[in-house]
Amino acid sequence: VGVTIPTPRFRLPVLGDVLSIDADKPTQRELEMAAELGPIFERKILGHRLIVVSGADLVAELNDESRFAKFLALPHRKLRALGGDGLFTAFNSEPNWGAAHRILMPGFSREAMRRYHKVMTDVAFELVEHWNTRAGRSIDVTADLNKLTLENMARAGFGYSFDAFVRNDDEFVAAIVRILGYVNRTSNDMPFMRVFRRGDRIRNDRDIAYVHGVVDEVIEKRILDDSRHDDLLDLMLHTPDPETGELLDRVNIRHQVLTFLVAGNETTAGTLAFALYFIATHPDVAAKVRAEVDAQHWSAESVSYEDVSKMRYTRSVVDETLRLWPSAPGYFRKAREDTSLASGRYPMKAGEWAFVLTLGLHRDPVWGADPEQFDPDRFSPERAKSRPAQAYRPFGTGMRGCIGRQFALHESVLTLAELVRAFDFELDEGYELNVQESLTLKPQNMRMKVVPR
Ligand code: HEM
Repeated sequence: VGVTIPTPRFRLPVLGDVLSIDADKPTQRELEMAAELGPIFERKILGHRLIVVSGADLVAELNDESRFAKFLALPHRKLRALGGDGLFTAFNSEPNWGAAHRILMPGFSREAMRRYHKVMTDVAFELVEHWNTRAGRSIDVTADLNKLTLENMARAGFGYSFDAFVRNDDEFVAAIVRILGYVNRTSNDMPFMRVFRRGDRIRNDRDIAYVHGVVDEVIEKRILDDSRHDDLLDLMLHTPDPETGELLDRVNIRHQVLTFLVAGNETTAGTLAFALYFIATHPDVAAKVRAEVDAQHWSAESVSYEDVSKMRYTRSVVDETLRLWPSAPGYFRKAREDTSLASGRYPMKAGEWAFVLTLGLHRDPVWGADPEQFDPDRFSPERAKSRPAQAYRPFGTGMRGCIGRQFALHESVLTLAELVRAFDFELDEGYELNVQESLTLKPQNMRMKVVPR
């Protein structure tokens, strides 16, 4: 028998739960509400219903691909201004999703990762050199990690370099961050608020035109260069869809390039920034990572793809970072047919949808009594076996889960190991972690001193 989904106690007529909105920290607000209202709760804003789910059992049901599918909620739809029918923002029904998925999958195979490995090592080494020139000074590490991930994606995926640490021009990153911030801020807007956002909107249009220009330049440059490359752009320009025999069209390629630059950049940069926060605040963890690196006798010149795969402890630091602060804090699922959650307790009609709050899922009781504790050993094989795999979903789920997962993990483990090998990290005095949300999560204004070892 169906039961009512818990809702906030004080609900306004017509406006509903507007008082519960925190436009700057929407998912952290939802985490607080989950602590109060439980593993499933409902928010209603101006008649729009949002069901937020964070309990491991309920999420496992929502992940069942036979009953639920990815849903494109308002933030995704707004992001279509950037990504159009690119992989991340395509509707399930759009034929370009399947075509691009089939064409691009080989670009994320193990063989492909081996090729990207060289780029990732070069870029990590460039960051170390860059930080060596700033030794002992306070550095905005999040900003520099953003440059690193952008550079990795651009070089590995499209054979293009932003010369991130040389050019010192981070207009592209700044524009992307502003666009994501705009989508984040405006996704909860009431219609009448649009008039107050005119300046904001004009700026956003300008930012979008700017990043489109940069991406078109990346594509143009490749088209003028006749030679073939082993990368994502080559696959998109020259490989026909094995199912239809058709190539992706030029506009779709632009959408994909932009999708990769955005999806691959913000999320991985945020993950690395949180990881450095934990390294700086947990000397025991830093020491273990360092012991693992030193045992390998690796240097930036000689480290191989296999060396990185063997860094089990460093990998568990990345896994645990993504547990506590999943840089993509959630994803949306909609019912394919009329169904229910928890054996009939919570009926859902076909097309009804829910938000999986990964941030909450990763603090479910299956994680033990101290889920706020940063403890990489949770990911030791024995402990991982003792909890349901569905309780950990930083890369989303199913067919529409993250295509860049291996790319992100290899990049994160390699970069973290290289940075910890080269430096000690000291947070600026008095820094308290402040998590900023602009669709993705990131530590805000986090400055650190890097001290060469
Ligand atoms: C999808 C997280 C890195 C490309 C997703 C989704 C999540 C996610 C949660 C599912 C979104 C949804 O269901 O709506 C992350 C995290 C990353 C990361 C936490 C880093 C730590 C990357 C990288 C790339 C990438 C490096 C590119 C190389 C994509 C794409 C999709 C996606 C294209 C859409 C896949 C599809 O629907 O076919 N990611 N991602 N991501 N991600 Fe990632």
